[in-house]
Amino acid sequence: MEDLKSKINLDNLPQHIAIIMDGNGRWAKKHGQPRVFGHRNGVKAVRETTEGAAELGVKYVTLYAFSTENWGRPKAEVNALMTLLVQTIRKEVATMNKNGIRLKAIGDLEALPSKSYKTLMEGIESTKDNTRMTLVLALNYSAKWEIMRAVRGIAQEAVDGKIKPGDIDEATFDDALSTKGIPHPELMIRTSGEQRISNFLLWQIAYAELAFLPIYWPEFTREHLYQAIIDYQNRERRFGKTSEQIEGDKS
Ligand code: IPE
Ligand code: IPE
Ligand code: MG
Repeated sequence: MEDLKSKINLDNLPQHIAIIMDGNGRWAKKHGQPRVFGHRNGVKAVRETTEGAAELGVKYVTLYAFSTENWGRPKAEVNALMTLLVQTIRKEVATMNKNGIRLKAIGDLEALPSKSYKTLMEGIESTKDNTRMTLVLALNYSAKWEIMRAVRGIAQEAVDGKIKPGDIDEATFDDALSTKGIPHPELMIRTSGEQRISNFLLWQIAYAELAFLPIYWPEFTREHLYQAIIDYQNRERRFGKTSEQIEGDKS
């Protein structure tokens, strides 16, 4: 593991890694267990990821924990996920403070069950002064919802005469999103072998490098994180330019 870690170029780390934690249910099924067993075992992977990323010096990790579409799952599973959220935050806050991790959340948070909302706010409040790394939980999150909300906010400002339509630019839009102030993810990882975005950070991942891993989320370890970062560092991020131009910029 140290070997893999030493291959990471610390001067070229992604500042922000976004992760679609997928495959808990299938992992549980593989082990002959109910889906909730998979969600519970996914928490370990969250801890590994958070601590591994913080140790390297990554500044932001955003985890897709519950999508707006996930409300459509059986009620018992939704309840179990909400309970797990409350338990995990309560249990991990002390460690997060010890490790200098600040908790944040994006999504339609007020629509969460009141206990989940309250515990989340307590976790955010208790860790707000930490500066080593920010862990962003996407909860009741949907990128289309976030974009619609931003559009409405900006339209209202235009109607109120606070902004001219011609002055609306990418920065205006960035500031209207719930990720305001957070750099866009350079790397987005999805586990479970599924190759789709599932309504996650659509605007923010416009130029992210995508990594689709053929393992289930509870199987995700620091090694997978390290390997994904190494793969990211071996890619050439061209941003529309040619390879020769990118090579030229380096010299
Ligand atoms: C991801 O695992 C966790 C959540 C979406 C909350 P899944 O529960 O989606 O697991 P699969 O994809 O059904 O295996
Ligand atoms: C995406 O996983 C949402 C989270 C990881 C929270 P899903 O399992 O809900 O995605 P789909 O439905 O397979 O696209
Ligand atoms: Mg899934």
